[in-house]
Amino acid sequence: MNDQMNRDHNGCNRRDFLKLGAVAGLGSALGGIGSGGCASLPKTGSAQMPQHRPVETVRIGFVGVGGQGTNHISNLLKIDGVEIRAVCDIVEKKVVNVQQMVEKAGQPKPAGYSRGETDYQRMCEEEDLDLVYTATPWKWHVPICVRAMKTGKHAATEVPAAVTIDGCWELVETAEKTGKHCVMMENCCYGRSEMMVFNMVRKGLLGELIHGEVGYLHDLRAVKFSSGGEGIWRLAHSIKRDGNLYSTHGLGPVAQCMDINRGDRFDYLVSISSKSRGLNLYAAKHFGPDDPRAKQKYALGDINVTLIRTVNGLTITVYHDCSSPRPYSRINLVQGTNGIFMGYPDRIYIEGRSPERDTWETTEKYFDEFNHPLWKTLGQQAKSAGHGGMDYMEDYRMIKCLRTGAPMDMDVYDAAAWSVVSELSERSVARRGRSMNVPDFTRGKWKTNPPLGIVAA
Ligand SMILES: NC(=O)c1ccc[n+]([C@@H]2O[C@H](COP(=O)([O-])OP(=O)(O)OC[C@H]3O[C@@H](n4cnc5c(N)ncnc54)[C@H](O)[C@@H]3O)[C@@H](O)[C@H]2O)c1
Repeated sequence: MNDQMNRDHNGCNRRDFLKLGAVAGLGSALGGIGSGGCASLPKTGSAQMPQHRPVETVRIGFVGVGGQGTNHISNLLKIDGVEIRAVCDIVEKKVVNVQQMVEKAGQPKPAGYSRGETDYQRMCEEEDLDLVYTATPWKWHVPICVRAMKTGKHAATEVPAAVTIDGCWELVETAEKTGKHCVMMENCCYGRSEMMVFNMVRKGLLGELIHGEVGYLHDLRAVKFSSGGEGIWRLAHSIKRDGNLYSTHGLGPVAQCMDINRGDRFDYLVSISSKSRGLNLYAAKHFGPDDPRAKQKYALGDINVTLIRTVNGLTITVYHDCSSPRPYSRINLVQGTNGIFMGYPDRIYIEGRSPERDTWETTEKYFDEFNHPLWKTLGQQAKSAGHGGMDYMEDYRMIKCLRTGAPMDMDVYDAAAWSVVSELSERSVARRGRSMNVPDFTRGKWKTNPPLGIVAA
């Protein structure tokens, strides 16, 4: 068999796979990365958007109530038609804290589950729930969502939905088999600026879309070395993995603008990482040069750049940098044939409309005209919620869709396409930037799936 025939569509042959396993050492401690080998070929089955009946009162079991989970609980307690029936965390006092929050909000005390890492399974078996919502560390998202769907519940997960290609397929296939929703809660799709851009794109202001430039550029050095919250688990990913580890915040909003999975789809990507310096330098400065954290070898390059091309010929660059001293940014650039929007700070140029050629405009007056209807209606009540209000918006919309039986704004195919970039980028980085095909999780339905509309409150 010649080399070409021996490869799957990610240019991955058995010899490469064995080497990659050895080089990357992407072990089960991080959720089984690498165990799937060249696992990106579509599996059997047919792509169907899950259908569901409206649920009048959404009974929720929540798994993982640390920083972000607790944020979601406070949002959910403000939304009509929600009951928090059960709460699960490996730390009992976090469960008790949420039980108290729920009782304070006037609901009965939810059942508590804190008998270890797999106690969510007992919750799924015992409780009569409509939705299991998880904000646990990344490696738990797939097993929790899968268990939820298999026990007859819809599933919602914090980002990323999965850290492996196999994990993405498992979510898609389980959602299809069970007919349940599996939503990845990408709050950045509900950012005020992102939603305005989406509205402008739908109204044709930017012309035909050509390119996006997005990313997750967030100085997480202190968080990664902290002894609480994400510090407990996130640093391990930087030790073992090199790629675009947190792609969905940047990618979600621009993918919606570009009708990914609804008229277009990600076709292939290439990915390259810089060397790794930031974490070692930070540890040496803060803990001393002889501290094990300063001597640790971190696989993750400080800056990863991934470049995606879609089937319809659009391009997107996705940056990842959580190890450098820098202000926060998701870049949020959308370029069309008629103009460009760019975030951080927001600015815009529309040919024939912007007063001066070659010069950015500020965006205030565009908000007057193009603010998304969801923000017009819910902006005030969302304001005090986490991440500038977008967390409230996403929780509100998911509950609304469950209560009305409407399709979710983001479905399991979006969860898979936006999340799969992490393992594909790792594979590309490990092969000197070789091109990796992105699986078509919709199995062809992207050609006929209707585009996302302008959703209302
Ligand atoms: N969308 C956003 O803007 C945003 C912001 C922060 C975090 N997140 C995501 O939310 C998730 C959680 O992040 P965080 O910052 O809240 O982390 P965290 O460490 O503060 O919270 C995680 C919680 O999960 C619990 N936990 C761990 N394993 C568990 C298990 N097997 N069963 C039950 N509980 C378990 C921990 O005890 C902890 O309370 C991550 O996926 C992260 O990427 C998203």
